[in-house]
Amino acid sequence: MSKSIYLLLILPVGLLLTACGEQQTPSRAAKTQGSMQHPIPKITEPPKRDYGFSDVVQGGKLFRQNCAACHGQLAQGNPQWRQPGVSGKSAAPPLNGTGHTWHHPKAGLKHTIKQGTIRTGGSMPPWKDKLTDAQIEQIIAWMQSHWPDEIYAAWLETDKKARKSRPAR
Ligand code: HEC
Repeated sequence: MSKSIYLLLILPVGLLLTACGEQQTPSRAAKTQGSMQHPIPKITEPPKRDYGFSDVVQGGKLFRQNCAACHGQLAQGNPQWRQPGVSGKSAAPPLNGTGHTWHHPKAGLKHTIKQGTIRTGGSMPPWKDKLTDAQIEQIIAWMQSHWPDEIYAAWLETDKKARKSRPAR
């Protein structure tokens, strides 16, 4: 495929993504609160993302196939996620930056996804035998593509600190 045709194909998708991001950022930022432990930094320029466009596209497909049934098509989570259900178990939280997923470093997110939460009294199945490490990374990239720049910048700090104290697995 010639380069210009490729660009023509990519451009509308890129514009669409930009448009969504602009619309959603203010409301998401407002819903997500920082804390002493997880402050949301004031940033002057967007942080560099550590994933690429194709990771996000692949991750989106895998998310819809495996995770959307509980976490929602756009990773918005179950509206009741903060209240334990009758069984005492929580409903699936949002992964789109409005919850607290960004408080966890990459290694922690991978651990939760691989092991699930059934063993610790939750209801998420483990994915370690169904998805490869690379696929889990792609799903995380897709999740993070929904996070506003401030949230991603805050997460980068947390991840950097965790890598210093324990090298990435
Ligand atoms: C059967 C429903 C279900 C499915 C399917 C599911 N999850 Fe979950 N997930 C949950 C629940 C519920 C929690 C909250 C922990 C708990 O109480 O079990 C959770 C928690 C998480 C967390 C931790 C979020 C945080 O803010 O700490 C991550 C990350 C996550 N899920 C990712 C995924 C990914 C990626 C997939 C698909 C590969 C997936 N989940 C599939 C139900 C599900």
